[in-house]
Parts: sequence; C-alpha cells; structure tokens
Amino acid sequence: MLKPTIIGLLTVVLLSVLTCYWLIFIRVTNAGLTFENELQIPEQSFGTVVEGRRQFHLTVAEGTREFLPGRQTPTAGVNGPYLGPTLRLRRGEDVDLVVQNNLDEMTTMHWHGMHVPARMDGTPHQRIEPGESWTASFEVHQQAAPLWYHPHPHGTTGRQVYRGVSGLMWIDDDESDALDLPKTYGVDDIPLVIQDREFDGDGAFRFAVNQGAVYGSTMLLNGTWSPLLRVEARRIRFRLLNGSNARIYYIGFDDGREFHQIATDGGFLEAPLQTNRVILAPGERTEILVDFSDGAEAVLKSYPEAGLVETIGSYFGGIGTGNLQLLKIVPQPPSRVSHGLPERLSSIPRIDAAQAAKARPMVLAGPVQRGPEGQGGRGGRAARVGQGAQGPQGGQGGRARRVGPLGIPINGKTMDMARIDEVVRLGDIEIWEVTNRGGQPHPFHVHLVQFQILDRNGRPPSASERGWKDTVLVPPGDLVRIIMRFDRYADPQVPYMYHCHIMEHEDNGMMGQFLVVEDPALLSNSPSHVAGG
Ligand code: C2O
Ligand code: CU
Ligand code: CU
Repeated sequence: MLKPTIIGLLTVVLLSVLTCYWLIFIRVTNAGLTFENELQIPEQSFGTVVEGRRQFHLTVAEGTREFLPGRQTPTAGVNGPYLGPTLRLRRGEDVDLVVQNNLDEMTTMHWHGMHVPARMDGTPHQRIEPGESWTASFEVHQQAAPLWYHPHPHGTTGRQVYRGVSGLMWIDDDESDALDLPKTYGVDDIPLVIQDREFDGDGAFRFAVNQGAVYGSTMLLNGTWSPLLRVEARRIRFRLLNGSNARIYYIGFDDGREFHQIATDGGFLEAPLQTNRVILAPGERTEILVDFSDGAEAVLKSYPEAGLVETIGSYFGGIGTGNLQLLKIVPQPPSRVSHGLPERLSSIPRIDAAQAAKARPMVLAGPVQRGPEGQGGRGGRAARVGQGAQGPQGGQGGRARRVGPLGIPINGKTMDMARIDEVVRLGDIEIWEVTNRGGQPHPFHVHLVQFQILDRNGRPPSASERGWKDTVLVPPGDLVRIIMRFDRYADPQVPYMYHCHIMEHEDNGMMGQFLVVEDPALLSNSPSHVAGG
C-alpha cells in the first residue's frame, strides 16, 4: 500500500520541479511574437556646420505613437514622437547642441559618456524649463565611441526616458574610418536601442515600480514592437544600447551562433572578441559583428542568466526572468562581399594603478549614515570640501522626488543637490573601489570620464570588459575597482554626477556629486556653492 503512495508523491514532486524549471528557465516571457514589423532605424543627423561649429537642434516634446496594432500610445521624444535622431559627431570638432524643451515639465539633456565641461553636461543642475532652450557647446576630443543622450532631471529621469526621450550619439575618428568595418547606417551598421515597456489595455505606457524599479514584459527595439530586420547575408555590425530603466540583458542568438564583440561603452576593444553572449546593464553599450553569410535566420534574444537565486527571485517578484525575444534577423542575398574581421581595432594603454593619487571607496546600498550627511539630511555642514571646509548649505537645489519609500545610499548618503560628496584634483589618476552591499545588482556610472576596470574581486576583468567603460555592473557582494584619469575640465562650482543607472534608483537618490578642481585645498578657504551653469 505504501509503495504506490511514494511513487505518486515522487511523480508530483518531479512534475512540479520540471514545471517550475520550465516556467523560470525555458519559457519566453514575450513568446508568440510573429516579427511582422520592420525594425525602425532612427534618423541619423550630421547637424549643420555653421562657422566651423557643428550644430544640432533637438526639440523635446510629447507625441503619440502606435507601437501595438490599433493602439495609440502617448509618448515623448526628440524631434519626433519616440526616441531621437542618431547624432554623428567627429573627434576634433566643436559642436553646439541646442535643446528646446517643449514638454510641460522641466528637463535636462545629458551626453552620457562624453567628456564635457560640467556646465555642458546636462545634469540635474542644467535645468531647461518648459518652453525654454539650453545650448551645450564643447569640443569632441575623445575617440570613436557609441554614446547616447538622455534627460537627467533629478527625480524624473526614469519617467522621461520611459516615455521615449533619449537617443544615440556616435563619435567617429580617423582610427574608426581606417578600420574595415561595416559603416553603412541602417544597412550593415545597425543601431539597436533595447527597451522593455509595460502597456495598459488602452495602449498607454504603464510606469509601475516593482522591486524598486520599472520593468516591462513587452520589448521595443528602436521603438518597434515585434521587429524584423532584413540584412544582406554578410557581416553585420550592431551597436547596442540598453536604454531600459532597470532591466539587465544577457544577449545572444537563439541558434547559439557565435559573434564578435568589438566595443565597450567608450570605444573599440583592442581586438575582436569571439563570444556568444554580451551582458548589458542599463546605460551600457556594446558593438558586435555578426556573420550572416550562412543565410540562416536568427532571433536575437535575452536569456535568463542572472544566476539561479536572482532569476528565481525575479520570477516570483513578478518582473520576469529576462527570457525575451528581441529581434528576428532575416538574411537576403548580398550585394557585395563581406567585410573582413579586423585583427586589431585599437590600442588601450592600461592606466597604471601605481600612479593613482587616491583610492576612493564607493559603497553601494550599504548602511545609511545617520545625521545631516545621511539620508534625508538637510542643512548643516553638508559638504566635505577640502580639509573640513564649510560646504554648501542644504536647502537650495530641491530635494529628490522619491519614487519609493526609501532611497538606496552610496557611501551612506542619498542624493542632495546642494551637497558636494567628492572633490577630485584635476590631472589626478584615481581608483574608485565600488562595492555592493545590497541584494541586487547596480550598474555604477561615472560622468566625465571613461574608466578602466582594474579588477573584480581581485581578479582581472574578463576580455569583454577590458575596454573603456563609463558604466559597470556591480553584482551583490562584488568589489569592482575602476581606474580613471581626470585630465580635464575643472570647475569649482558645478559638479558632475556618479550614480546607479537603474533610473528609479538614481531618481530615488542613489547618486552623488563630485567636483573637479585645480587645487582642492583652495576650496577650503572659499566655500563653493553648487551652481547651475
Ligand atoms: Cu546616463 Cu548620469 O547618466
Ligand atoms: Cu552619464
Ligand atoms: Cu541601483
């Protein structure tokens, strides 16, 4: 009598385990796509050259777009209803970016990854009020890189980006010109902005905070739902941006095909790296070369590879496991021979850790510091500028609009726009030791610089992270040491930001401010105040 019961029990257990496994690791969240929509390619813009300066006009405004058949979605975009043009910049040129805010709320525009003076950076301090415009002027002096732009108003960045305000900004230079790589925009050089969205029944975007951030179960690629891309059956270059508010993607092809990663956030790798996965956290970019000369169709996908505990947590937390179909690619007969695979792409001299003037701890999601400097602190001696300087007083600049009940701190503090958190000496090399004491991964972003990853938990970075980075994913418990050189743009008043690029974390205060100054000691005599520029 006992045996059948045990067998029955075992069967039930086995079946439930298999079902769970299937639900969590096999089932695709957005299964059943028929890929009937041509992938939209954002317009590219070279601007206009006026008296030697390349000028771009960007108008941010509301719009409507049909993403899902028969449903109109209220949106916001740049020079159009959703996303913005891909801006093409060249190293060595001077640019003016004129941003007109036609929204009915304040915005800013940040050039993510670009080395620019602090008052041109488009941080929360460079406010553009409704109906007003703001111009960022700077020289492009960094190497070819796939950068992007997005609003950065404190407390509402996530909402504005979610509605559609962001775009790509690519730098070219002599080095990239000389490389035998696909360069025909939209033909063999394909921009791919990856975003997850949640839709209401009437087609409106649903901005719903779950697990502290905003996730969606519907994928938009360049703002296209259920997208198909026809390419010639040869080597195709994709420049990927994770433009999502919070979701991390583990990207590969459904047929397991290998491809070559050729770039990171800030430019080319030294050599193509053969792989079948790239990991992209919010804010990160990569470029890949994929050979379609076999003529076989493939689906670009994201896989549930965050790790067992994380993936099960995401499943039961209701944000999906990240098992997602992204884009179907259908090769067509080629009109020309394929580009080769360059042996070398660039040279990346390693920054010498022995030359670092300073190591700065950056503790993500650690304990909240008590007192005026900590969470919710106001007024008092806010900044630690130089040696015991009386810093900017609290009160100006406004408080974070909280997305959730509690902000996640960096070094025990949540963002205060009137407080300078760190002061860097112009010309210094610094090591930032980023540790994650929390239970979820945080992509850590630093403005102004491109950095190198020295090590992760004492081990050298993987080949895929050995390029220039401005955003680095820091999983729970990890210590990532990054090294960077602050070789330009001192400003004793206007700070740059460092923050988690999960936009709801950032909006909720997971951000800090640093000044770059010629002599930090001077600041202690003349208290700085945070200015907008
Ligand atoms: Cu992509 Cu501070 O930003
Ligand atoms: Cu940035
Ligand atoms: Cu975060």
